[in-house]
Amino acid sequence: MTKHLISAGDLSRDDALLILDTATQLARLADRPIKKLPTLRGRTVVNLFYEDSTRTRTSFEAAAKRLSADVINFSAKGSSVSKGESLKDTALTLEAMGADGVVIRHQASGAPHRLANWIKGSVVNAGDGTHEHPTQALLDAFTMRRHLGNLESRRVAIVGDVLHSRVARSNVLLLNTLGAEVTLVAPPTLLPVGVEGWPCGHSFDLDSVLAKTDVVMMLRVQRERMNDSYFPNAREYSRRYGLDAARMAMLPEHAIVMHPGPMNRGMEIAAEVADSMRSVIVEQVANGVSVRMAVLYLLLGGNVSAIGAESSEPSTSSERELEPADTGQRRRRSDFAGEEA
Ligand code: NCD
Repeated sequence: MTKHLISAGDLSRDDALLILDTATQLARLADRPIKKLPTLRGRTVVNLFYEDSTRTRTSFEAAAKRLSADVINFSAKGSSVSKGESLKDTALTLEAMGADGVVIRHQASGAPHRLANWIKGSVVNAGDGTHEHPTQALLDAFTMRRHLGNLESRRVAIVGDVLHSRVARSNVLLLNTLGAEVTLVAPPTLLPVGVEGWPCGHSFDLDSVLAKTDVVMMLRVQRERMNDSYFPNAREYSRRYGLDAARMAMLPEHAIVMHPGPMNRGMEIAAEVADSMRSVIVEQVANGVSVRMAVLYLLLGGNVSAIGAESSEPSTSSERELEPADTGQRRRRSDFAGEEA
């Protein structure tokens, strides 16, 4: 495993499978009465969020807490960032507090990469500008594997505002690593320049793609990142690129519908589709916790033997001080080798 998780492209096939298989083990925890492991006890995870977030921030917080890490939540609003403090000074302040891992969401593409040069701990990219969102891609792949098994040669259509979507970029990279075939579907104005060089196909015609797809992933139209007009109006967009019940009926029977959230119901996805039997959108959120637990566990080198144990909560800080020092060993890839579902 790498020390940081900044791009889905940094993950080898083995790394990706290790994370997904570890997440499968950790997901079993969700069925236990006590959903907590002592693996990261005494470690500190900082959630450094410069952009709004519901799912991702709470998911990382739940993941770190279920592994018994201490969690510091930092949001730019209400902090010294509004007094003009730089990312570097903020990061060094958090480091001085002993952060072992920093989960960062930032409006600037590349911010997690810079951060990784300034601090000693592991950096996890929770979304940087329009660049990447690797843990979203991992939780999406995890959800797809649960429904479809191996992703080799599976066909995934990613539909909508690809131009502004870090989710799409990370998914294209990861799904390509896992052997799936991705088609991006969008109006020409919402496809990035140079998309021909990406490891995927593209189409402007949603109807022609649906019958041949195993997964359809709808993307939010990101108006907050649009400084221009990319399509005539919302109705016209939905008519061409929205997933409604009639379009959903064109999918093969086994196909699933995904969305990273937050959704614009009635725009890129009709409410009846979002709430249908084929929709795995709520499941994606639940799976996000298990996948982020796996990422934190593998990057922060949790106590290996503690997987499978339940936390003897509540543990006080004085109790922790009395415990023998953790070896800090990183989980080795071979420990989970050959466990692909
Ligand atoms: C995505 C994001 O923030 O990039 N959402 C998420 O993390 N669940 C997608 C979006 O905002 O549309």
